[in-house]
Amino acid sequence: RYFCKITGISPLFACIGNLGDVILGYDTVAEYVNGTAYFGGLIGRVANRIANARFTLDGKAYRLVPNDGNNTLHGGHRGFDKVVWTVKEHVAGGSSPFITLYYHSFDGEQGFPGDVDVHVKYQLSGPHELSVRMNATARGKATPVNLAHHAYWNLGGHGSGSVLGEEVRLFASRYTPVDAALIPTGHLAPVAGTPYDFRTPAAVGSRIGGLLSRGVNGYDINYVVDGGGLRPVAVVRDGASGRAMELWADQPGVQFYTANGLSGVRGKGGKVYGRYGALCLETQGFPDAVNRPSFPSQIVRPGKVYMHHMVFKFSF
Ligand SMILES: *[C@@H]1O[C@H](CO)[C@@H](O)[C@H](O)[C@H]1NC(C)=O
Ligand SMILES: *[C@@H]1O[C@H](CO)[C@@H](O)[C@H](O)[C@H]1NC(C)=O
Ligand SMILES: *[C@@H]1O[C@H](CO)[C@@H](O)[C@H](O)[C@H]1NC(C)=O
Repeated sequence: RYFCKITGISPLFACIGNLGDVILGYDTVAEYVNGTAYFGGLIGRVANRIANARFTLDGKAYRLVPNDGNNTLHGGHRGFDKVVWTVKEHVAGGSSPFITLYYHSFDGEQGFPGDVDVHVKYQLSGPHELSVRMNATARGKATPVNLAHHAYWNLGGHGSGSVLGEEVRLFASRYTPVDAALIPTGHLAPVAGTPYDFRTPAAVGSRIGGLLSRGVNGYDINYVVDGGGLRPVAVVRDGASGRAMELWADQPGVQFYTANGLSGVRGKGGKVYGRYGALCLETQGFPDAVNRPSFPSQIVRPGKVYMHHMVFKFSF
């Protein structure tokens, strides 16, 4: 699994691991614009679902764009993943190259109140480490903000088939149960004794039968991440390739999604992606928090800043 050679300069072993492209995606911008799976998207203004495409804030009712049955999903029909961002700064060389993208979301966009300035900085922050830092500043009006990075991971390589054999560990003792439309019921339930229990590492597919027998076609659920601050959220390991990924983040929750909705999607290099062909670990606030006062608030007041930090650490 490791390919090592003695370098000519010093008697050190230079080891090159088992490199591969582990993210699903497309070859062209046009396909991203047309796509419906949110491949690699930066999701907003509010990631995840808002029940019945509406909410009330400071006594005022807001109507959003329903794009998932009666609900709003991932910001509406034209969320942040479908808009054109400005490259604010980029440094290609050096030890920690980065790119910073900027988007100005206008008052009333997809029904949301107030102007919002959004930044996301993708940086290679250490050896084999990717950092994603997002921030959003509300201008003029209070608004919900809940951003998410929606990469589809397959550590066996994109297009290599199902991830059900990859091993996952989730640092979460509770989850937010949902109704048939994937809207949280409002309570936080223990994962113990349910198919959602990944507190110890287990194959992604090891407990999926418990969902399928109830007519649920895979994982698409928000976990309450244990602890607070920047902390471990998940570890994914692919035995066949020897690759592993650790995710740290500072958000209350993580949506664990096993690409249940993918079917025959033609992606990079002609690879075809199907159901369970990837998994997503979307750190964020809880779904429908804007209608659930008991959930951590996602309201950003004028002049205040929303912040979200993720770190992916790879070994191979
Ligand atoms: C656009 O997406 C649809 C499916 O959502 C697909 O059938 C079609 O081929 C895509 N078109 C392009 C240009 O990618
Ligand atoms: C949408 O809401 C209407 C009215 O409440 C209801 O009749 C319908 O079944 C809902 N549709 C879905 C897909 O949940
Ligand atoms: C938001 O992120 C951008 C880009 O990294 C940075 O320049 C800016 O200072 C950040 N804003 C705040 C309020 O932290």
